[in-house]
Amino acid sequence: MFVDCHSHVVPSGDDGAATIEDGRALCVSAARHGTSVLFATPHVWPHLPLTPERERAVRASFEQVRAGAGLELRLGFELTPTRALLAEDPHRYALEGTDRVLVEVDFAGPAEPVFAVAEHIERAGLRPVIAHPERTEAVLDDPAVADELAARGWAVQVNASSLTGRHGPEIEQLGWSLVERGVADIVASDGHRSTRPAHLDEAYRLVHERVGDRALSLFDGSAVGVTPSRTEARVASRG
Ligand SMILES: [Fe+2]
Repeated sequence: MFVDCHSHVVPSGDDGAATIEDGRALCVSAARHGTSVLFATPHVWPHLPLTPERERAVRASFEQVRAGAGLELRLGFELTPTRALLAEDPHRYALEGTDRVLVEVDFAGPAEPVFAVAEHIERAGLRPVIAHPERTEAVLDDPAVADELAARGWAVQVNASSLTGRHGPEIEQLGWSLVERGVADIVASDGHRSTRPAHLDEAYRLVHERVGDRALSLFDGSAVGVTPSRTEARVASRG
């Protein structure tokens, strides 16, 4: 039932899955925990950009993982803000089948770079999804930055692992504040490896406990334009 728009289950030279087998195991585990559509979003880092050569390798790995994933696996990317991205057409980074682009807030330093990249994404006719602001220095220092991101009309994505306390009490508390105040639109796993899997079920249970039926829209893909009915139609059409 869950749509997870953020994970690192495809080997891509970053800190996510290291092998095809590891990637498939992460997908199979996600499916067992209730995820039906999973976006693999390899990092696009300042020091690891998406060169044509890397993109070919990522797409080949993606196809291999998808073949044994046991759920609907789609490809996207997670952008770390850089000036170089401002000179690129962001369409190549879109979450497959949507008009959304996942971009994180830098873990350290000011938030200005994410605003610049998100505005660039919008100018291209696409819509930013802002990854895990609750884990970043800028937003921990000043939570109003998250409100400002949301006020721009950008989808704010909180990590499931923040809500379950994996990243410590300060991040847990900020994550919950974003969910309870309605600033967050999406909960995603940001799953990287077997010790940090792409699971959403525990976070969904906790969010449902706190906010009731409003929890569903944070997990069902509606905030990234993947509606459950369309998902079911896609799966059905693949026979
Ligand atoms: Fe990530």
